[in-house]
Amino acid sequence: MVRARLSLFCAVVLLAASCDHKSAAVTSPTPSPPSTDVDPLKDAAAMSGRLVGAAVQSAFLGDPRYTHVFDRHFNYVTAEYEMKWATTGRSPDVEDFGAGDAIAGYAESRGMRIKGHALIWHGSVPSWVNALSASELRSAFENHIRSTAAHYRGRVLAWDVVNEAVADDGSGLRDTVFRQKLGDQYIANAFRLAREADPQALLFYNDYGGEGLTAKSDRIYDLVRDLVAQGVPIDGVGLQMHVSAANPPPDAGIAANMRRLADLGLRVNISEMDVRVRDVPGTLQARLDVQRSVYRSIVAVCVAEPRCDAVTFWGVSDAHSWIYTQYGPDNPLLFDEQYLAKPAFYGVMDAFRRR
Ligand code: G3I
Repeated sequence: MVRARLSLFCAVVLLAASCDHKSAAVTSPTPSPPSTDVDPLKDAAAMSGRLVGAAVQSAFLGDPRYTHVFDRHFNYVTAEYEMKWATTGRSPDVEDFGAGDAIAGYAESRGMRIKGHALIWHGSVPSWVNALSASELRSAFENHIRSTAAHYRGRVLAWDVVNEAVADDGSGLRDTVFRQKLGDQYIANAFRLAREADPQALLFYNDYGGEGLTAKSDRIYDLVRDLVAQGVPIDGVGLQMHVSAANPPPDAGIAANMRRLADLGLRVNISEMDVRVRDVPGTLQARLDVQRSVYRSIVAVCVAEPRCDAVTFWGVSDAHSWIYTQYGPDNPLLFDEQYLAKPAFYGVMDAFRRR
């Protein structure tokens, strides 16, 4: 039962937020009485045997509006960018795990689980790496994976070992610096190095655009099927789920894709979910209602798939979403710029409660 309580905290939040929230987005009307004390999402997720998480940035962990929502609703933490190579390896000879450790320490102090993200991704490579020869890149690649996985050994539940290695059209592997200089085997090698450095961590392949049944998801399936067949230590696949409410992947396709991955013996996660609404016609309220329906139906697909064991949203609130920089003003997440629950939150709650 959702408790709608106007508290002093809520009044303070509204006052504080009106001073410093990001200007770009349109502030969403809140359909029900504003409340920051809606039932915890993580309790509903736990009832269905799942973790529910959010991508976080260390800079926001000092903001009580942010941490109030984060602590209350989520139990699975992904560093949005601060455990990536471009952040930890800015210079060739120094590794900086400071920000990642701040996030990990925050999570551990609150009994949250941690997903490491991401060991190898062409989207986050230190600038000095691109100039390396093939042999120099091989040793840098191996040292990075070994030292990062060892640094967080025993602290992370899982790692996104390789991120976005498949071409968007599904024609093959993406032509990244890793593939160019290390060959196609870089993917299997990354998983083997990660397993060696942290034998307990669950190891995931993570990608976008392959959530339903598409040419890209077929290629991702082929990739992980071959890894499993070769005995490469892979435990799961992350379906990022960055979607538009105007044309989301069909639920039936997502379910079939999850099932075929599960039939390989793999776990599946929804790993980076956000739902853009800017292309949905009508009033903002109408767009948020469509968004609620999309969030509910996609999370319900995960809840119906026994091997889909975690759902992570790519941010805590609309006040801090990467979508702004990539697509412009939008309202993609479960909480609005004032950290108040949107219709989308209630849709996800209904999905976890199998309503
Ligand atoms: O916070 C610093 C700021 O202090 C500094 O002044 C500024 C300029 O250097 O950088 C800011 O950090 C940026 C950070 O986003 C927060 O805005 C980083 O430079 C920037 O690289 C980082 O981008 C992240 C991006 O991955 C690259 O790592 C996004 O937050 C993050 O949402 C995005 O996430 C990716 C997933 O890892 C993989 N799937 C796609 C997804 C969206 O692109």
